[in-house]
Amino acid sequence: MSEQRKTEKAWSGVFTEATDKQVELFTESISFDQRLYDQDIRGSIGHARMLRDVGLLNDEEFRQIEAGLLEIKSRIEKNDFEYTTALEDIHMHIEKALIDRLGDVGRKLHTGRSRNDQVSTDFRLWIRDAIDQLDLLLADVQKAFVTRSPRDLGVILPGYTHTQRAQPVLAVHYWLCYCEKFQRDRDRLADCRKRVNQSSLGAAACAGTSLPIDRFRSAEYLGFEGVAANSLDISSDRDFALEFAFVMTACALHLSTWAEEWIWWSTVEFHFLKLPQGYCTGSSIMPQKVNPDVLELIRGKTARMVGNLQSLMVLVKGLPLAYNRDLQEDKQRVFDSFDTLSASLALAAGLVAKTELDREAIAAHLDEGYLDATSLMEYLIRKDIPQRTAHGIVGRLVRSAMDHRLPLVELPLSELQEACPEIDESVYDFLGAANAIAAMKSYGSTAPDQVHSQLSLWQKKFKLLPRTKQETVQ
Ligand code: ARG
Repeated sequence: MSEQRKTEKAWSGVFTEATDKQVELFTESISFDQRLYDQDIRGSIGHARMLRDVGLLNDEEFRQIEAGLLEIKSRIEKNDFEYTTALEDIHMHIEKALIDRLGDVGRKLHTGRSRNDQVSTDFRLWIRDAIDQLDLLLADVQKAFVTRSPRDLGVILPGYTHTQRAQPVLAVHYWLCYCEKFQRDRDRLADCRKRVNQSSLGAAACAGTSLPIDRFRSAEYLGFEGVAANSLDISSDRDFALEFAFVMTACALHLSTWAEEWIWWSTVEFHFLKLPQGYCTGSSIMPQKVNPDVLELIRGKTARMVGNLQSLMVLVKGLPLAYNRDLQEDKQRVFDSFDTLSASLALAAGLVAKTELDREAIAAHLDEGYLDATSLMEYLIRKDIPQRTAHGIVGRLVRSAMDHRLPLVELPLSELQEACPEIDESVYDFLGAANAIAAMKSYGSTAPDQVHSQLSLWQKKFKLLPRTKQETVQ
C-alpha cells in the first residue's frame, strides 16, 4: 500500500518513504482547487501548443496531448473523474490522468514549467473569468436602479447626514448614487483585470528554464495581455489575488451600505419601502414579522469578505521569496469572496427591481425635519446676506418653528421679515421640500434637470428606453 502510494506521486523519485496519511490530508488542495480544472486544462493546452511551436513537442504529440486533455475535461464535467488526496492538487490529477492515457507523450507536458507558475497561471485565468462575471452582475444591479427610475421620478426622500434629516433628495438621485458606486467597482475590476491578465507561464519554479520555450507565444494562446517579467517575482506574486479580493470587498462595502439603508427604510419607523415578500422571511415566534433577512445577510456576509481580504494580506506578510506552500491558502479565500459577492449581487438586482416605494408614507412626513432650512439660507445669500449671518437667522427661525411645532413654510411672513427684512413673498418659492429641490442648480446636485440628464446618460449606457415627458418631475 505504502509502496503504491509512493509511486503514485510525480515527485517521489528522491523519496525512500511513503507520505504519511495525515500529511496527505493536511497538504492536499484538490478538495478546493478542483474548481480550477477548466483553467488548468486551458493553460496546459496553451503550454503544449507553445512547446510544439518551439519544437519541444512534435505535431502528433501535441495532437494527442490536446485530445487527451479535452477528454479529461469532458470526464470531469460528466462527473466521471476520480479525485484522491494522494494526488494533492488539480495539476497532479490532470497530469496523471493524461499520463495514464498517453504514457511517455503525457510525461512531456510538464516540460519547461513547474506547478509554481502553473498554479499562478490557472489562478489568473480563473480570476479573469470571475472578473467578467462580476462585471455582468454589477451591471445588472445598475440596470435595475436605472430601469425603475422613470417610475420613481416624482418621489422626494429626505437626505440624511449623521442619520439626521438634512436636505430633500429625489429618490432617483439615491438610485443613481448607487449606480456611481457600482460603476467605480466596475472600473476597479477592469483596472485590476489588466494586472491579472499577465502571463506567469514559463517562469517555472523560480528561475526560469534552460529550455527554448517562448513565453510570449503561450501568453498569446491564453489571451494574456502581457508577460510578467521576473521569474522570482512570478512565483511569489499574489498581488493580483489580493487586489481582486480588495475590489470585491470594496463592492461588498457598497452593498452593505445599501442594505443597511434599505433595512431602516423598510421599518415601521421609516415606512419608505415595501420589500417583496419573496425576499423576506418570518419569525418562528412572532406571527406578525416579515424580516429583511436577505438585506441583513448581504450586510452580514460583507464581514467574511473583509476577513478573507485580511487573511490574504496576513498570508503574504513577511513571506520569503519565491514560492512557499503557504500560498496554497490563497484560493479558498478568493473563491469564498467571489461566491459570496456574486450571490449578493444577484439578489440585490432582484430586490432593487421588486421593491416598491411607499409614496404616501414618505410624502406624509416630508415636511418634518426642516429639510428646506438650507434652501432658506441660500435664498438669503442670494439677497446678499453673508452666509454666516444667513445661517444664524435661519437657525433662529427653525428654533421658533420647532417651538410652535410648525414647518418653516407655515411661519407667518411677518415673523420671517422680522428676522430678516430682506425676505419677501418670493421666499415661498424656496420653502417646502419640492421647492428646495427645484431651486438646486449645481452640477451633480439633486436638481431635477441634473438628475434627468444623469439618468439619460445611464439609460443610454444601458440602451434602456429614454423617459417620456409625463414621467418627469415638475
Ligand atoms: N497546490 C499548490 C498551490 O495551490 C500548487 C503548487 C504546488 N507547488 C509546489 N511546489 N508544491 O499552491
